[in-house]
Amino acid sequence: MPRAKTPVAAPVVVSIGGSVLLTGEDDARYLNELLARLRRISDDLPLLVTVGGGRTAREYIRLGRALGLTEVELDEIGIDVTRLHARLLAAHAGPPTPTRPATTVAEAVAELRHAPLVFLGGTEPGHTTDGVAALLAVRTRAARLVNATDVAGVHARDPRTDPDAPVLDRVSWTDFRDLVHAGTTTEAGQNFLFDRFGADLLARAGIPLLIVQGRDLPNLENAIRGRPFRGSRVGPSGRR
Ligand code: UTP
Repeated sequence: MPRAKTPVAAPVVVSIGGSVLLTGEDDARYLNELLARLRRISDDLPLLVTVGGGRTAREYIRLGRALGLTEVELDEIGIDVTRLHARLLAAHAGPPTPTRPATTVAEAVAELRHAPLVFLGGTEPGHTTDGVAALLAVRTRAARLVNATDVAGVHARDPRTDPDAPVLDRVSWTDFRDLVHAGTTTEAGQNFLFDRFGADLLARAGIPLLIVQGRDLPNLENAIRGRPFRGSRVGPSGRR
């Protein structure tokens, strides 16, 4: 009699901001520890990880804009930088993770059948790697999307003008989308809490978004594993 298949856990998607990856402070140590944890977690949960371009992408985009490149060309430059960062992590992860990161969502989803840990950068102009992460989450019916960013979560008020503004542990999709749409345009190289296209996709699919400070690795691991964590959880009615 054929043996019943063990159910495969729903994947978790992680979006790592470029500004978390490369800060100029202890980056090699951080990348080593990040990789070790992702590998360990991927023994239990399939992981799809998108990697952002951060400061490096923004510098190239600024230069290209000064030269008169179009927004699409600037987006493409940003995509190249995110792929460079994804390659750094993918190469470090080693087999079975493909060394050359996937370039499309479909390719990444296919790779997940052979490797439990898959990296990719950007895909096409018009959104950021958060948007790619949201597409992946919807395509794979992911359990959650964890955004590893350079802030502690969603603040009750703008932390640039009010440094004491507390982090909200629960945020509704309605409030979060209002925040993201007010804080962004469609220009290349923006740096905001999350991508507007990605927020809309996740809200529609009902996939929770967890926002955490990405340099705090034990806390990042808790969020990925679905354990209690410090940061914000965006969900239907703000329930944690
Ligand atoms: P990022 O994903 O790095 O955006 O893509 P970000 O918001 O600056 O994130 P951090 O700072 O890394 O956290 C960099 C730029 O590359 C282009 C966009 O112009 C984006 O702003 N891009 C990226 C795309 O056009 N499409 C993609 O799929 C990914």
